[in-house]
Amino acid sequence: MPHSGNHSGHESNSRCRSNGDARGFLRRTYRSLKRTVLHDTLLLPYGVRKHRALRQSVDRSQTATYTSFCRSPTQLEALLGPVLDHLDPGPPASKPLRILVFACSNGAEVYTLASALMRRYPGIDLHVDASDVSEEMVRKARSGLYTRDEVLDGDHVSDAFVDFTFDRSHEGLRVKPGIKSRVTFARADLLDPGLTDRFQTADIVVVQNVLFHLEPAAARTAFRRACGRLKERAALFVDGMDLDLKLELTRELGLTPLEYKCREIYRESRAHHPVAWWNYYYGAEPYLVLRRDRVRRYSTIFLR
Ligand SMILES: C[S@@+](CC[C@H](N)C(=O)[O-])C[C@H]1O[C@@H](n2cnc3c(N)ncnc32)[C@H](O)[C@@H]1O
Repeated sequence: MPHSGNHSGHESNSRCRSNGDARGFLRRTYRSLKRTVLHDTLLLPYGVRKHRALRQSVDRSQTATYTSFCRSPTQLEALLGPVLDHLDPGPPASKPLRILVFACSNGAEVYTLASALMRRYPGIDLHVDASDVSEEMVRKARSGLYTRDEVLDGDHVSDAFVDFTFDRSHEGLRVKPGIKSRVTFARADLLDPGLTDRFQTADIVVVQNVLFHLEPAAARTAFRRACGRLKERAALFVDGMDLDLKLELTRELGLTPLEYKCREIYRESRAHHPVAWWNYYYGAEPYLVLRRDRVRRYSTIFLR
């Protein structure tokens, strides 16, 4: 009978799906346990030693341009809450906000920031100056045009974000003119001694996932140059930097780490790192709760 046939087909489909769901759940649980128990706990002392040795000897690459939209929703939440409160204790976003984004790659990070700020504070007087050393990335960022795959690649990209940020066209997803008009892109090298003359100081400086791609001496220079563009009262966003160097330089410059959801932000930033993190100079150790300096070490946001 067709009815009973359909019915049993439906039942067997849902059985398959629930078997699939169960398998997916088991696979995810196994991976997560492997990561937290094996790689991040039992192998931790080995990993820390191996990672330190690797970072001292490895050649780094300045040509890595990976990026994604909405990489860290919790970091954005910190921006929209405690960071803006720190910059302007008056009504939220009542003063002009100037942001500098270095090493912006194809613009995904820049448009994510601009979109989040404009969505939360529609009247915000926002201007973002973004730059990257790669001419090709600057061209792509300026175009504001992305394929669906480029946009949806991010784990945290929501329909609401896509609807607010892009116009859909046969060419792909194009950043809405209202958002694009708040952003400029230029070619700039963090190692260029003339960098500081090219950009005005800003309320927020963003320099993420680039410093660990530079040799330590160059990373120091780049970090100091980027921080040289912070206003007297400002915030620095700095993910993707050797942690010991971050401790040393943020102390030297008198920057205060933001404690707000620091562990969660660090977890989100680490989500895309290989589990055997010690085999990659850009790998990051797990959040070690017993470290006395943990907030400064793992925070990606610093205030002054
Ligand atoms: C891994 S991407 C990070 C992109 C983005 N900041 C993010 O976090 O998603 C690193 C970017 O740094 C850029 N870069 C590398 N060396 C640079 C330098 N010396 N000055 C400016 N940008 C640099 C690369 O071209 C690349 O686009």
